[in-house]
Amino acid sequence: MKKKLLETLNGVIYKTPPIWLMRQAGRYLPEYMKTREKAGGFLDLCYNSDLSTEVTLQPIRRFNFDAAILFADILLVPQALGMKVWFETGEGPRLDSVLTGFNINNLKPVSDIHETLSPIYQTVKNLSESLPKTTTLIGFAGAPWTVATYMIFGKSSRDHKEVKIFANENPTIFDNLIDILTNATVEYLSRQINAGAEVIKLFDSWAGALSGMDMIKYSYNPMLKITQVLKKRYPKIPVIVFPRGVGGGYVQFSKNKVFSGLALDQSVPISWAKQLQKDIIIQGNLDPIHLITGGNKLKSEIELLLAAFSGSPFIFNLGHGITPDAKVENIDLLLKYIRDK
Ligand code: CP3
Repeated sequence: MKKKLLETLNGVIYKTPPIWLMRQAGRYLPEYMKTREKAGGFLDLCYNSDLSTEVTLQPIRRFNFDAAILFADILLVPQALGMKVWFETGEGPRLDSVLTGFNINNLKPVSDIHETLSPIYQTVKNLSESLPKTTTLIGFAGAPWTVATYMIFGKSSRDHKEVKIFANENPTIFDNLIDILTNATVEYLSRQINAGAEVIKLFDSWAGALSGMDMIKYSYNPMLKITQVLKKRYPKIPVIVFPRGVGGGYVQFSKNKVFSGLALDQSVPISWAKQLQKDIIIQGNLDPIHLITGGNKLKSEIELLLAAFSGSPFIFNLGHGITPDAKVENIDLLLKYIRDK
């Protein structure tokens, strides 16, 4: 049986595109909340292979998405490198960061990360054994720039001013951190592929904070390097990159023959994005807000996306993750609109 998402990344065009949603396993699902409680907390859930497998499968059972994404977090890599990571309820992640006194020289060697991350590889293995035969398994990691922003500042930032100041004032330390993360990400993803991941996605959620040459240096180049090394080891593995918020910078990513897919955020106009399809397979980019509001607007936005992108290989997704207040019935509607066409 064919895996539609994998086939699409190999250039096949489907009348009904494959669909999955960022954060499809998460707080909008009552069954997720139950399992998270059973695990004790979000990070405990990430490191519990049986329960992570369960929450990855929950949205597949409910919606039969064409892909399952490993349940984990981009901040497990800094944790595996020896940084303290925790989640403040209602506020998001916190790290024992460089700006609060952590010295990068005290990070563990990259070869030690697997000690912490081995439960994640077990989750991937469980999933590759239990997913339906038509579901593609996506492994992932954060891109070095986005992970570095958390390691420097210790939490999400509005404009990343603090991290950019740090990088400008301490270029040697910052470049070294990007190199360490590039190497760690290659080793982490290689283990995910060995365990059964069929597609890799790199999340550079804060790429849009970088301008000009820094976007190339800290977002584009590290993702290119990670992908090149992975392709050397696993020539057939497709890699989707998500340099969120780079606007016109998406063109640079589309011209590169090493990346297989380009995930677009919702700020990218559909009429403009169409031109990217001659060079790369795109994924996106419905605004997650429509899963809260639904109605005719949800329907008309889906129609616009399908009309613009369906003539080339295309993966339907959101422009960013599902929010906790998304309504399950709107996801049912979304799937009905797309699949009944
Ligand atoms: O279903 C999936 O998409 C797979 C699992 C996944 C999670 N995080 C689970 C999660 C993936 C791919 C991520 C990636 C991630 N993590 C990113 C990149 C994508 C993006 O959203 O931009 C980033 C920046 C993080 C770091 C992170 N993790 C933040 C900033 C937060 C808090 C924000 C929020 O949504 O609450 C998290 C927590 C997180 N990661 C949750 C989930 C399901 C919610 C935790 C909970 O259950 O309380």
